[in-house]
Amino acid sequence: MSLPAKLESIVSDIESQFSIDDAYIVKATKFFLSSMEAGLAAPSSSREYMPMIPAYVTSIPTGKEKGLFLAADLGGTNFRVCSIDLKGDHTFELKQSKYRIPVEIMNAEESEELFSYLAKKVESFLEEHHADYHTKSKDHLKLGFTFSFPVNQTALDQGTLIRWTKGFNIPDTVDRDVVELLQANLVILGINVKVVALANDTVGTLLSRAYVNDPAKTKSNTIIGAIFGTGTNGAYYETIENIPKLTADKVPEGAKGMVINTEWGSFDNTLSILPNTKWDVTVDKETANPGYHLFEKRISGMFLGEILRVVLIDLFEQGHIFVDLAAERGGSLPHRVKEPWQLDAEILSYIEIDDSTDLQMSGLIMQNVLRLPTTKEERVLIQRITRAISHRAAYLSAIPLAAIASKVKDQYKDDDRDFEFGCDGSVVEFYPCFRDTILKAVAAIDPLKGTGKKIHLRIAKDGSGVGAALAASTVA
Ligand code: GLC
Repeated sequence: MSLPAKLESIVSDIESQFSIDDAYIVKATKFFLSSMEAGLAAPSSSREYMPMIPAYVTSIPTGKEKGLFLAADLGGTNFRVCSIDLKGDHTFELKQSKYRIPVEIMNAEESEELFSYLAKKVESFLEEHHADYHTKSKDHLKLGFTFSFPVNQTALDQGTLIRWTKGFNIPDTVDRDVVELLQANLVILGINVKVVALANDTVGTLLSRAYVNDPAKTKSNTIIGAIFGTGTNGAYYETIENIPKLTADKVPEGAKGMVINTEWGSFDNTLSILPNTKWDVTVDKETANPGYHLFEKRISGMFLGEILRVVLIDLFEQGHIFVDLAAERGGSLPHRVKEPWQLDAEILSYIEIDDSTDLQMSGLIMQNVLRLPTTKEERVLIQRITRAISHRAAYLSAIPLAAIASKVKDQYKDDDRDFEFGCDGSVVEFYPCFRDTILKAVAAIDPLKGTGKKIHLRIAKDGSGVGAALAASTVA
């Protein structure tokens, strides 16, 4: 549907500000590689390059791992507790409970409020699913703690929080060991569980996908564990000689390599190369970590809706949209539209593919979620901007995947299997066409050129819990 000339030129201008092309992603992939190298070399973290955090996991699962483990997964909106029975044949049995974390706890005054909440949930899970372990005094259960925030990890079971991301803000946790905090609160409750491994969700995703993957069948090696959900990040296996910051005393005996949690959300925090519209600037200012995780703020589920919302507010303030509506309401918009973070990426995913007459479905959704009545033209504008935002997000998402594939290709030079990326998270799983667009962009970068190998993107559902169990299984 065509728009009146003035609106058309406004929308086209916004689309061009969000647009990135193949030449850009090729260039950005090179820059990403140099930022990875800087992060692998620098002894302390800096805003300028990616954290590249050694995860103290020194091998990738083969699928033969066995045993019963617990996993506690704190990553975004939910806290999950699971028990995982690894069968040793690429399969497992999982029991899990999921708890939505109250906003007051995400913004608690003190860490203890959060960690005692988590410990209590572990307790309820055990009461429900493994009542015998709760009271038994011998044999503790081993727990892998998936903690999906930047952590300065110094051993498999030790790590201090660098900073909160994704809407959490409990300043008192920064620099404290999150394993100790969880363990202390489990001890207070008398729970017979030992936290033996700390893993980022991406590390978990890498391990769990590698466990499930049977290379004899898929003809592929699992190269990356990645999350595209509330946040975005990825982990991969790096050889020890390529991690100069890992001094000899920190290398576990016999280790040839180590999994690295890249924290790629923090790629290019100084904005040397990332696209930066005025709306990105506004969104960054609204967050608890301005100036950090700027790559994530252009890609992940927490931010896509917010970018759209601030574009709409801007157009409204310039008098281009919602004019009659505001006039009827004495000049203001419905309060939900004015409030940050009200527009979930899930809503964008419906608007993205709406093909109903006059985009009536989008109209109902905007009415329902934001209490916002829209005209046909406004809906067309909203859909086009939504598509521009999500296309940029998917295109940018290809950069780290392609960079890592090209960085590790020598590790696999003696083997002819394809590369697979294990991915989890609501955006990659559910956002329409997101996966296809990523793959198209990866193909444009062509990181495996000349090897004859293909790249597959596979969904590693709920991988982080299983992965934490696998990390726990490496402890004697
Ligand atoms: C954020 C966190 C990171 C996590 C990612 C995906 O970027 O900083 O640790 O892996 O979200 O959940």
